[in-house]
Amino acid sequence: MPDVALAVTGLTVNYGGVLAVDDVSFDAERGMVLGFVGPNGAGKTTMFDAITGFARARGRVVLEGHDVSDLAPEARSRAGLGRSFQDARLFPSLTVFETLAMAFERHVRAEGVVSTAIGAPWVRRSERRVSERVEELISLMGLGAFRDKFVSEISTGSRRIVDLAVILAHDPSVLLLDEPSSGIAQRETEALGPMLLKIREQTGATMLVIEHDMPLIRAISDEIVALDTGSVLTRGKPDEVLEDPRLVSAYLGTDHQIVDRSGARRAQPPAKKVAAKKGRQRPLQAKRVAKEA
Ligand SMILES: Nc1ncnc2c1ncn2[C@@H]1O[C@H](COP(=O)(O)OP(=O)(O)OP(=O)(O)O)[C@@H](O)[C@H]1O
Ligand SMILES: [Mg+2]
Repeated sequence: MPDVALAVTGLTVNYGGVLAVDDVSFDAERGMVLGFVGPNGAGKTTMFDAITGFARARGRVVLEGHDVSDLAPEARSRAGLGRSFQDARLFPSLTVFETLAMAFERHVRAEGVVSTAIGAPWVRRSERRVSERVEELISLMGLGAFRDKFVSEISTGSRRIVDLAVILAHDPSVLLLDEPSSGIAQRETEALGPMLLKIREQTGATMLVIEHDMPLIRAISDEIVALDTGSVLTRGKPDEVLEDPRLVSAYLGTDHQIVDRSGARRAQPPAKKVAAKKGRQRPLQAKRVAKEA
């Protein structure tokens, strides 16, 4: 088995003249947490879209030694790439238990419609197996109190945990999490770091995590990659990267609140006043490229 779980080479995504991802290359060693930071519009989500096959891209994506660059998203997922989105996508009218059972069933479905309809013994065995695995996952993720609640009844933070559990039901070797802390309460964010580390420990999965929450990404990452305008600015240990002046200036003039929260600006002179913006919205800074023939 190679030590590199995921190797990305020359990944490039061009959206109608906007170079959203510009020749990005990196390796993620097996079992590591690799963080990704960078200002809004830096290309982080698009990079995940390209790795998982949702965006058309140039470059190569090699998962556990297998080139998956030409596979559709579904096939990449079956090959072991598990991916969360910036907003959790779940059915509100299912309970947490039903949601996870469905996720396992989709993963291990081996029985045909007829054998399911006649209640063949192997189907019942498989149902028992599914329910045992759901219970294990509920316990790993601390979802016991929400087991029989509808997805529509639980908080955004708990929904994110359920979303994560759905991805884990597919037994991914590499997990890509896009802003797992987005939209959740501070207290829940504090619980998120230890939970992600526990998942890594119990599943051995390699994790790629995009985050704007600097204390969280600093706490969980073995290394961090900083992106700006589609390119890799730098990669290294969390403290080095988060204090790198190039990253600080990529954030400055964009959203000072994030830099303040990161603590990265302490050593800098007071910044010029930047107009406070709601949320994290700011003009996007993707690289414009010359018109292609
Ligand atoms: N489907 C799309 N079609 C056209 N352009 C897109 C599309 N998705 C993203 N872009 C552009 O690609 C660039 C990178 O966007 P992306 O969403 O990847 O940034 P990000 O780093 O994830 O930002 P954020 O931190 O706000 O989530 C932006 O200029 C964006 O406008
Ligand atoms: Mg994004």
